[in-house]
Amino acid sequence: MKYFLILLLNFSVKVFAQNCFRTEPCKCFMEDNSGYINLKSLALSSGGPRWTLDGGDGYFYQYNPCVGFENEKFTDLAVLQVHENNSNLEYNLGIQATETFVTSLSKGLSITYASSASAAKRKSEVILECIPGSRDHELQFVGELIVTEYEFILKSPCACPGLCDDTGLIVPDASTSSQISTMPPSGDETLQPDPVGSGLNWNQVGSDLVGLIFHDFILVAIIASTIVIVQYIMGYRCHCYKNGQSMKFTDA
Ligand SMILES: *[C@@H]1O[C@H](CO)[C@@H](O)[C@H](O)[C@H]1NC(C)=O
Repeated sequence: MKYFLILLLNFSVKVFAQNCFRTEPCKCFMEDNSGYINLKSLALSSGGPRWTLDGGDGYFYQYNPCVGFENEKFTDLAVLQVHENNSNLEYNLGIQATETFVTSLSKGLSITYASSASAAKRKSEVILECIPGSRDHELQFVGELIVTEYEFILKSPCACPGLCDDTGLIVPDASTSSQISTMPPSGDETLQPDPVGSGLNWNQVGSDLVGLIFHDFILVAIIASTIVIVQYIMGYRCHCYKNGQSMKFTDA
């Protein structure tokens, strides 16, 4: 029965949060064979950050996936924090060399970065939110939820398995793919830098939270019903066992 519980838990973990195995920078393959997640088309390769967000906390946050950017102090940056009034006050929040794909029950798939490969002072986590129908690639700053650990959400169709390749959105229709080869509209669109973000958008964060709570609710419901089923089966067994004993008694 214990094994059944563990199996069921394991199953629900897999249903809600598939692992994604990193094959090269910015690219991973889904455990359930649903395809590659490829963020390469989102990166600026010009040596700057794709996104600069006003965190609303006195700092700007810069992020570039896949390709490191640098300034006077740091190289190979993925995430940088810059003080709004003093650009000399800047902190390395993660370098590309530490890029790791992580799956958790509460957040799903995310990419983590650390400020150095060993004894990192700061860390960043970019939660990947798959938005299949979208053509936008939006970064939101969630906050410094744990001291020196910074959380972001990247909403993009390229956060979905199988929807993007190195150049951007894959258009499955053969008749439109010929258009793609003459002019690269999806690539251009994906490389347009987003306007400076407005930090937290509570409407969106709120719906994310509801999603998370709902997700946890489903999990709790599964565990609760499992316990009820297990108790029912165990109770049934005990009943049989008692019957067996009483039969023994009548035999003797
Ligand atoms: C930046 O300067 C403005 C105007 O002087 C000030 O109101 C704000 O508090 C400063 N920000 C920080 C984080 O110190």
